[in-house]
Amino acid sequence: MTAVEPRTPADPATTTELAPAAAPWWTTAVVYQVYPRSFADSDGDGIGDLGGVRAKLDHLAELGVDAIWLSPVYPSPQHDNGYDIRDYQDIDPVFGSLEEFDALLAEAHERGIKIVMDLVVNHTSDEHPWFVESRSSTDNPKRDWYWWRQPGAAGAEPNGWGSAFSGPAWTLDETTGEYYLHLFAKQQPDLNWENPEVRQAVYSMMNWWLDRGVDGFRMDVINFIAKQLDLVSGPAAASDEGSPMGAQIHDYLQEMHREVFAGRTGAHLTVGEMPGVSIDDAVLFTDAARAEVDMIFQFEHVSLDQGVHKFDPLPRNLVALKRSLARWQEGLAETGWNSLYLNNHDQPRLVSRFGNDTEFRYESATLWALVLHLHRGTPYIYQGEEIGMTNVRFEGIEDYRDIESLNHYREAVEQFDQSPASVLAGVHAMGRDNARTPMQWDASAHAGFTTGTPWIAANPNFPEINVAADRAAERSVFRFYQQLIALRHDDPVVALGDFELLEPEHEKLYAFTRTLDDRVLLVLANASDTPLTLQGEWVPDDISGAELLLGNYAGDGAAALRPWEARLYRL
Ligand code: NOJ
Repeated sequence: MTAVEPRTPADPATTTELAPAAAPWWTTAVVYQVYPRSFADSDGDGIGDLGGVRAKLDHLAELGVDAIWLSPVYPSPQHDNGYDIRDYQDIDPVFGSLEEFDALLAEAHERGIKIVMDLVVNHTSDEHPWFVESRSSTDNPKRDWYWWRQPGAAGAEPNGWGSAFSGPAWTLDETTGEYYLHLFAKQQPDLNWENPEVRQAVYSMMNWWLDRGVDGFRMDVINFIAKQLDLVSGPAAASDEGSPMGAQIHDYLQEMHREVFAGRTGAHLTVGEMPGVSIDDAVLFTDAARAEVDMIFQFEHVSLDQGVHKFDPLPRNLVALKRSLARWQEGLAETGWNSLYLNNHDQPRLVSRFGNDTEFRYESATLWALVLHLHRGTPYIYQGEEIGMTNVRFEGIEDYRDIESLNHYREAVEQFDQSPASVLAGVHAMGRDNARTPMQWDASAHAGFTTGTPWIAANPNFPEINVAADRAAERSVFRFYQQLIALRHDDPVVALGDFELLEPEHEKLYAFTRTLDDRVLLVLANASDTPLTLQGEWVPDDISGAELLLGNYAGDGAAALRPWEARLYRL
């Protein structure tokens, strides 16, 4: 019995809305995220820069990616590694200059690679001239560009919101005796998008970058630009649970689209980072007819292993992960579009979090690559993922740099009396510096990242895990990604086929089909350290006759999936 019946094109439930010819360019694209600080250092100051990105463009061109998402390179005091911007229309000297940026853009375009900028407009740096003016007096014309509130009863903060980086989301400013809102660090005051002048200033800046030739924006916590106004001003007892997002977010994004993108021809990309949104929200945000954003980054699947706090990890739960991703596949099947990611600069490394980063590093890195890239949506690769880079376990908190981890450590140890060792264990598992250690290019000093002293140490495993070694290896994670990217470019079923999860309750097996018209692809993956015998409803009996398109073990058709084996069949 064949469990997976090819469907007929006439079945309305399975007909994809997007015909291949009419589908937007990003349905067949793969995006690569560069975190410039940690990518490649061209001038020996220990910090990655634009010259480093230019020098490595061929690595990305050979990988085959269509676009780079460049994390922030704007002038910044770097409290949050550039997500605290002091000037939106320049380049921080630590990264280069506008001239160097233009050169990078031209060289990327020559290779057919687009550049998508990071747009961080929920907040600025407290050193941005807008905020410097705003804080100077209560009647300054820019006062209302940020969220200022008088102290609540007994001098308390205006409401109970906590900052994402520990402590309250409000800081009292001595100059005027009022509090300002910062959902992140106190050096990152939130802009007041209720003020039309703020919105116009942002649109004008976005137009300036697009006129310069950039290809779109990844929008940092963009759903938070709209606040629930009744909550902002209190009462002080207001809970900080749930999302601060206000319903006016759709108006803002539609206005942004009209003011920035509507009149433009050309292939742009907009992806909004949106913590805490539901599938129903996502349908609204990404419905092309509503003209808001092309796709969003949602967080459900990367929150499943977080306990009460993000630094208290829970064991991985494959069933929950599959179900979550499948619900998003289903929810955005007819309208809207998914982005696909398992790690980025804020998340642990995927092979350490979801795989086995010691005994089965190659197998589990490639398994998750295959599983993710065969979902319907636009895949994002985070630097180093393409060679199976792993989490790091630095010995002491002094080796860490991330403001979130450092604030959490201080708060947990000093205020809540937790043991330093247990807090450090949480940072090892979930901390953002796992993703931020230098890109491992080769086995030379500091992984070939810099000739100087790196701003954060390289993962000590760089002599074994690096680009040069991986590309020379028989079993190369890089080559596996190359094949996945090529498949998405060439096979409309990968880009557009309907998704169906098989065996949702199976605790080791990740299996699904993709179907477009009468063409069916089948993914079978064993997400475990032990072999998994192929049996049951989900195994088509003609599997031996099916074409194996890609797999991460040599040899075809073994009756058991070996540890972390993943296969892609065309039925
Ligand atoms: C999300 C970014 O990805 C993260 O790195 C940053 O710290 C916060 N937004 C604040 O900008």
